[in-house]
Amino acid sequence: MTAVQTITEEILDLKRQRKAMILAHHYQDSEIQEIADSIGDSLELSRTAQKFEGDVIAFCGVVFMAETAKVLNPSRIVVLPDMEAGCSLVDACPADQVRAFRERHPEHVIVSYINTSVEVKAESHILCTSRNAVKIVNSIPAEKPILFLPDINLGNYVKKQTGRENMQIWQGACIVHATFPARRVAAARAEHPHALVAAHPECPPGVLAMADFIGSTSAIIDWCVAADAKEFIVMTESGVGHSLRRRAPEKQFYFVANENCNCSECPYMKRNTLEKLRDALANLSPRIELSEDVMSRARLPIERMLAVR
Ligand code: 13P
Ligand code: SF4
Repeated sequence: MTAVQTITEEILDLKRQRKAMILAHHYQDSEIQEIADSIGDSLELSRTAQKFEGDVIAFCGVVFMAETAKVLNPSRIVVLPDMEAGCSLVDACPADQVRAFRERHPEHVIVSYINTSVEVKAESHILCTSRNAVKIVNSIPAEKPILFLPDINLGNYVKKQTGRENMQIWQGACIVHATFPARRVAAARAEHPHALVAAHPECPPGVLAMADFIGSTSAIIDWCVAADAKEFIVMTESGVGHSLRRRAPEKQFYFVANENCNCSECPYMKRNTLEKLRDALANLSPRIELSEDVMSRARLPIERMLAVR
């Protein structure tokens, strides 16, 4: 490194040396999204990771996303800038409880949101993401009982959309989306009467009831960019503002804060920094290391999901 080399240049140099690809979720800080080879939602990033033919995937997201990349492309090294980048949904759903449910209810199809640990994926029949959850549940024969886990709001939304009565739902929640209050959306609509509302399905039912569009992070961005309206109230993590402002600079986007931290940021996602990304590429650590056994059991439900078009 030269004295005048910026951290961005250092990262790009290391990326070339390591034959690496940088993936970034939409909730990453703008400076990380700027340097990424690909930005996406959890489904898009899984597909991109699966196809990668270089040596190292530097995953700027949270642990469950980097684990999924490793399972789908096990011969690559997968690094995550900060191994403490967890997720409240993962914490809400321990694998031993899922295994116990499966043993007690062998007839249930276990549909797991991608926001789960690799051990929970290994106990599941099929995965889903916020983008494809309705389609995945609709692909399961109507007579089969379902356990949907772990997000209660996404589960209730999917249950409503599919009309599935025989669907049990885990009680997990996202510490960001679940705290968005419906009354704040109502207040934002009163303030911006021409704005449309776009919401992530992890939001509470009262928020979803006010939404003009419900979808994954990428789906929200695509919808806002394509819509005729000029103003949007965006009910998801504020990192999506980066792509929204880049792709539709003439439009206005309003993010509604929650009441606990007065922000709409995921504290796990925001643990990653450019410095930590540089160090992860330099040291090839922190690295995702998983046993062959758990990877082979988790791969099947992920591949089942990817096969549903
Ligand atoms: P997406 O599937 O939209 O990327 O969402 C992931 C997530 O963690 C939402 O909070
Ligand atoms: Fe998990 Fe919520 Fe953060 Fe998404 S926003 S990674 S669901 S805690």
